[in-house]
Amino acid sequence: MNIEQLISSFRAAGQGQVFAFWDRLPAAAQQELLAQAAEVDLAEVERLNRTLVLKSGGATADLTDLSPAPYERLPVNGGSSAKWAEAQAAGEAALRAGRVAAFTVAGGQGTRLGYDGPKGTFAVTPLRKKPLFQVFAEKIKAVGLRYGRPLHWFIMTSHANHAQTEAFFVQHKYFGLDAGRVHFFRQGRMPAVDFAGRILLETPGTLALSPDGHGGSLRALHRSGALDLMKAEGIDTISYFQVDNPIVRCVDPAFIGFHLLAGSEMSSKMVPKAYPEEKVGHFCIQRGKLVVVEYSDMPLAMQRETTPAGDLRYNAGSIAIHVIDREFARRLAGGSMEKGEGRRENEGGNAEVPVLPFHRADKKIATVDAAGQPVKPEKANGVKFEMFVFDALPFARNSVVIETGRADEFSPVKNAEGVDSPQTCRDDQLRQFARWLKAVGAHVETDATGLPAAAVEFSPLFGYDAATFAERWQQLPVKPVVADGLYLE
Ligand code: UD1
Repeated sequence: MNIEQLISSFRAAGQGQVFAFWDRLPAAAQQELLAQAAEVDLAEVERLNRTLVLKSGGATADLTDLSPAPYERLPVNGGSSAKWAEAQAAGEAALRAGRVAAFTVAGGQGTRLGYDGPKGTFAVTPLRKKPLFQVFAEKIKAVGLRYGRPLHWFIMTSHANHAQTEAFFVQHKYFGLDAGRVHFFRQGRMPAVDFAGRILLETPGTLALSPDGHGGSLRALHRSGALDLMKAEGIDTISYFQVDNPIVRCVDPAFIGFHLLAGSEMSSKMVPKAYPEEKVGHFCIQRGKLVVVEYSDMPLAMQRETTPAGDLRYNAGSIAIHVIDREFARRLAGGSMEKGEGRRENEGGNAEVPVLPFHRADKKIATVDAAGQPVKPEKANGVKFEMFVFDALPFARNSVVIETGRADEFSPVKNAEGVDSPQTCRDDQLRQFARWLKAVGAHVETDATGLPAAAVEFSPLFGYDAATFAERWQQLPVKPVVADGLYLE
């Protein structure tokens, strides 16, 4: 498409304001604006405006026919030990065969944390202050060493943090990983619109573009060539996790095993909710399909419902850890559609065209006024569009949900203070290290919550869970005394 065609397509779509300052822009800025405009799918924006922005009352989540989703319980909570052992063995075999890759979504803007930099570069461990990316790198390296096959690690960035993320890995020599096995790619962007559906300019020569949500990861995996690379390397299983949770098992053999043994296309981990209002998604069944209902979509009364035994009825909290089949990701990368339509189409039996819906988020979006002067809004002035990866679940065959221990696997850094903050995450890491020590019979002073008095930290290369830690500990000829500042690697 040439310049005139592109500009007139925007005018024809009622989006001519994008070029309001065209005549004032230097030639280089004009080129940049054109490149951004060419990224926009006008038909998609028109559809989203119609269904999500201009529709009276906006879109509301479909909460009909919901029931709690079943899940595989941990043996300590009544699950079958034999089944977990079988899953563990199947996952280990897949790792030995090199079928698994790690995948981190790290394209978020991290606004709540208020940290100026890619979230993965945030210093998170209690003693060594290792950044999140280093913790994951060491876990991934340790798993590769254990099973004799170094893993590939895919990291999804955003346009805003891509260069900084890559530079950070170069600066730190990939934290000991083979650079050829660490792959970065950007996620897609979506234009933000005002409440009348007009695409917003961030400056006179740039669009207000923002990441398309972690659901955009499936498209981005495909578009970047990552899925083809996986195929060429014999990888068919993707271990997906978020950048904000340092205690995640980046690659968990039992989880992978459950996924593979069930012939699942996309599997998930849950933890029982800590309290009714906890801000996590809920695993539910809706007309025979597994779905995640976000905390913001589920009315409080429903979140507080209890069973006759007094437990929370919707207690399966999503901690955003998944195993995804490579070809399922490719199938899902195909299209996009507004909220609701994807599911309906699937239920109508047309499983050939699965599409992830977009969600609407009303936000304060920096823009310009009619004179091209910057405007920093005090309240929401427009809409961003995002896809969520868990919306792929209803399209997946044989989806499984397994339980995991919160203390073992979920302590995200989301907020600057209070819940899910650097402080709570640091304490949870310390408690985990103290539990591993106690399990091998080492003496460690803790308070009633299990928080050790001493600062202890173990590199994932020493041990990345209770079992691998115990193995290495047994091999130590002289057991170290737990004094303040104990670090093992
Ligand atoms: C998310 C989940 C919630 C889950 C919780 C567990 C959503 C809507 N909700 O909540 O169900 O219980 O995590 O911690 O996701 N990201 C991108 N690109 C984007 C947006 C996000 O890569 O465009 C990444 C972020 O870098 C981060 C992750 O996705 O790793 C989570 O994003 P965030 O917006 O923080 O999700 P939450 O609202 O905390």
